[in-house]
Amino acid sequence: MEIKVIVGDVTQAEADAIVVNLFEGEQPAGATAAVDKALGGAISHLIDSGGIKGKFGEVSIIHTFGKLPAGIVAVAGSGKRRDFTVDRVRGVSGESCRSLRKLNCRNVATVLHGADIGGIDPEALAEAIVVGSLLGLYNFARYKKPEYEDIKEILIVEKDEDKLPVLERGVCKGKVMVEATSLARDMVNEPANHMTPSRMAEIATEVAGKRNLEVKVFDSNEMETMGMEALLGVSRGSKQAPKLITLSYKGNESSESAIGFIGKGVTFDSGGISIKPSKDMDEMKDDMAGGAAVVAALSAIAQLKPKINVVGVIPATENLPSGSALKPGDVIKAMNGKTIEVKNTDAEGRLILADALSYAVKHDLSPVVDLATLTGACCVALGTGYSGAFSNNQELMERVLKAAGRAGEKLWQLPLPEEYKEQNKSEIADIKNIGDKYGGAITAALFLGEFVGNTPWVHLDIAGTACSSKESGYVVKGATGVGVRTLVELALSLAK
Ligand code: BES
Ligand code: ZN
Ligand code: ZN
Repeated sequence: MEIKVIVGDVTQAEADAIVVNLFEGEQPAGATAAVDKALGGAISHLIDSGGIKGKFGEVSIIHTFGKLPAGIVAVAGSGKRRDFTVDRVRGVSGESCRSLRKLNCRNVATVLHGADIGGIDPEALAEAIVVGSLLGLYNFARYKKPEYEDIKEILIVEKDEDKLPVLERGVCKGKVMVEATSLARDMVNEPANHMTPSRMAEIATEVAGKRNLEVKVFDSNEMETMGMEALLGVSRGSKQAPKLITLSYKGNESSESAIGFIGKGVTFDSGGISIKPSKDMDEMKDDMAGGAAVVAALSAIAQLKPKINVVGVIPATENLPSGSALKPGDVIKAMNGKTIEVKNTDAEGRLILADALSYAVKHDLSPVVDLATLTGACCVALGTGYSGAFSNNQELMERVLKAAGRAGEKLWQLPLPEEYKEQNKSEIADIKNIGDKYGGAITAALFLGEFVGNTPWVHLDIAGTACSSKESGYVVKGATGVGVRTLVELALSLAK
């Protein structure tokens, strides 16, 4: 798929379809008005008769029957003008591209959505069109032929030649973001018989080769030497070998310090001996979405080249029951020396992260951000639209919230109350791996906090957001690739 910016008049574009926009409750303006005029007032008539409302997400198809070079006009509802955001550009682009793909369009020309609203950075708008269109068209087609043929070319048509360099910069960044997010989606959508810890390590190694990153893959012997009994414990029930993957990007040669991105990489979570119910257990192939996001973010960061050093750490393992599996009641020792009573083998994410976070702290990574499909409780608390965010450092939290805002990824901060720590106390070990009945996302986060020491840290619980059961905007069914763009935006902002 080609996507580029050209100078011209969108009404005259030689494409199968052109995309214009319409704000809810308004009459056509700008390019939309020009198209309306060429179509003899078809758009305004449809608005008057109530056929087109301009609601966000609505795509109205009008056939031009020779009145314009393009055969189809898609009027993309953009919602109320006052509610307009860069993220709506992503949504509008995704919806309109998917509608046009269904109509067999191969070449699409689009206006720069939002350009007529003052105060929005045009570079961000161009990036949003690329991200929204391509992620909205994303398909996981490894095991089944896609229903529709792909759109081959998208042209962003801009009248003002002077804006070209800025828009092209946005397109370039957008392409990097799309490639990385799609990589994360591909990894998460891949079934667990293919996406094993070893396969994750292979992909990380391929990414490292392609992007000139340093990669290290530690095997179980090396984990044993490092004292990672928690990660090893979780892996013991499976025949798949666990891997601890690190990927390093060096963007600032004059500095020794690096920030750390840690991603949970449970390639299948059956629950282990504390086995999950079989209904929907298949969804637990997505339990490595945090790890996939970290690999993908490093790939994008290596292309965008911010002046900062970044290390990704991905503990990868399966969580299965067997004669050698971890049992409820077992006590294990994490890399930082803390002993953990395993009350429930299904709370395995926090166990492997205990070792990965200890590793990050030992290697002086700071600040540290971890991403994990950690708790069902987080889905209960926030639903599927928001990831939970926790931090021991409000300044870092604000930075992460801002980065997520730029990326269009929704986070909601939850507290880390000192008094809830009581729930993680064990009678026989330093800590246990489950709390009481309520507040499970918080007690899980507090557990992780015991392994970061004083390092500024943010934990993102993406259990509810890693996968989507419906198609909407630039989100399609299956893996969302959540976290990738937030991590990239964060690295870019910390480099400034
Ligand atoms: N991987 C799950 C969390 C999860 C649940 C992710 C739903 C995506 C969707 C995690 O390892 C888990 O099983 N957590 C348990 C913890 C409990 C045993 C304390 C949970 O949330 O039920
Ligand atoms: Zn689990
Ligand atoms: Zn899990």
